[in-house]
Amino acid sequence: MLSAQEAAQAAMEQNMSSDRLIIFDTTLRDGEQSPGASMTRDEKVRIARALERLRVDVIEAGFPIASPGDFEAVQAVARAVKDSTVCGLARALDRDIDRAGEALADAASARIHTFIATSPIHMKMKLRMEPEQVLQQAVKAVQRARRYTDNVEFSPEDAGRSEPDFLCRVLEAVIDAGATTVNIPDTVGYNLPHQFGELIASLIERVPNSDKAVFSVHCHNDLGLAVANSLSAVLNGARQVECTINGLGERAGNAALEEVVMAVRTRRDVFPCETRLETTEIVPCSRLVSSITGFAVQPNKAIVGANAFAHESGIHQDGVLKSRETYEIMRAQDVGWTANRIVLGKHSGRNALRSRMEELGITFDSEEALNEAFARFKELADKKHEIYDEDLQALVTEAGTEAENERFRLVSLRVCSETGETPNADVTLSIDGEERSASAPGGGPVDATFKAIEAIVHSGTELQLYSVNNITSGTDAQGEVTVRLAKDGQIVNGQGADTDIVIASARAYVNALNRLIRPSEREHPQRGDV
Ligand code: KIV
Ligand code: ZN
Repeated sequence: MLSAQEAAQAAMEQNMSSDRLIIFDTTLRDGEQSPGASMTRDEKVRIARALERLRVDVIEAGFPIASPGDFEAVQAVARAVKDSTVCGLARALDRDIDRAGEALADAASARIHTFIATSPIHMKMKLRMEPEQVLQQAVKAVQRARRYTDNVEFSPEDAGRSEPDFLCRVLEAVIDAGATTVNIPDTVGYNLPHQFGELIASLIERVPNSDKAVFSVHCHNDLGLAVANSLSAVLNGARQVECTINGLGERAGNAALEEVVMAVRTRRDVFPCETRLETTEIVPCSRLVSSITGFAVQPNKAIVGANAFAHESGIHQDGVLKSRETYEIMRAQDVGWTANRIVLGKHSGRNALRSRMEELGITFDSEEALNEAFARFKELADKKHEIYDEDLQALVTEAGTEAENERFRLVSLRVCSETGETPNADVTLSIDGEERSASAPGGGPVDATFKAIEAIVHSGTELQLYSVNNITSGTDAQGEVTVRLAKDGQIVNGQGADTDIVIASARAYVNALNRLIRPSEREHPQRGDV
């Protein structure tokens, strides 16, 4: 194992000298803290593989102490990913750090990210600790993390509201203790871009050993400034940005990876650094995260929204046809927008499916799993003649959600909808292997379906959100439905896809019910005592 000094030197040489901007993706950790965005182990592995294809430098895969499921997910990501560093979050506690170290044991490249709050309000009200105790605990945590890996990141939580003098002392001490990255979080999204940039510049200048670590930032979007604050930090010396796909994350979310990366790339004239990302993977990755979490991307979202490269006004269309640069500062294909490509059809065989799936980063554990996917594919190809990559992704998301549906499964659905008549739905579910049926009227076919399901399960949940997106274009496209259910403070999203949107809706509802009954006791990294 390298000494703290050698490791810091290596980090500096690797990351700083080339003016590389390190992209640290926390979709699987902070992104998962969005209400309803929790992901299963297999879903995390699929997203991690997509992030690896995107060539992000670091993937924060989760918070291993939170629950056995989180531990397994971090471990599975650590085993699956080879080209990105895999990181696990740990509070500044021995048990958290040991658990993170264990989960990451098989990673080709591992990082432990440990943190403790340093703002007066967090230290006094949340931790009930004196600043000196916090400083000592931070140092101890970094030293312990170094037992597992040379690659240790430390975050003073709520740095954006911490006393700069205290922050400088903590950073100096943790760098001395072996932290190779120091991350400055604007945990509550309170800072303004000029202020945050000045903070980063002054920390780099004032911390005596600042040249021994990479300075990183982690901005939340409470005032809609997460990306602006991150970019201001980069202009002031930060060389790692923590971000999430589609800006997913706690409350209003984190800085959106796609916006940070494309700003740095498009404005090379301003930013003195570059990322190593394969930007053509941005849109596929965004779609995957959206379909797994059920968080739809708003059409006018920068880079990955459906309208991001669409020109509506005649003047704009005319300008773009004459010269693209009149109204476009980036090329749609550079971020992965391609015309939908027909990839497979009714006559495609098992091998064609397997190889296209492999190109999308989806592998099958067994012949049986491939056969199941192939059967679903044939069923879909009968209804929809042209199958696109997006359909294949949805097929796997669907199969994954069904596999987990140990308790409830949709057996059949029959809906009557006729002008002038009240729609009615007949639903049969399998519950723990036993079939139960109910019939219900409703305001529309979807409403009737949900009422019939409730007549069987009596879940007492509140439907908080219902949305439908078409996966590809055309009237034979699959509809991808998301429902969000809430019960006793637990919020879950469920997804379903089908060429029939009422069936997709029923599947989404059943999927959410299954998620609701999964144990939800998991620790939250930023709540509770340290
Ligand atoms: O927002 C925050 O402060 C965090 C830390 C754990 C880095 O997510
Ligand atoms: Zn955060």
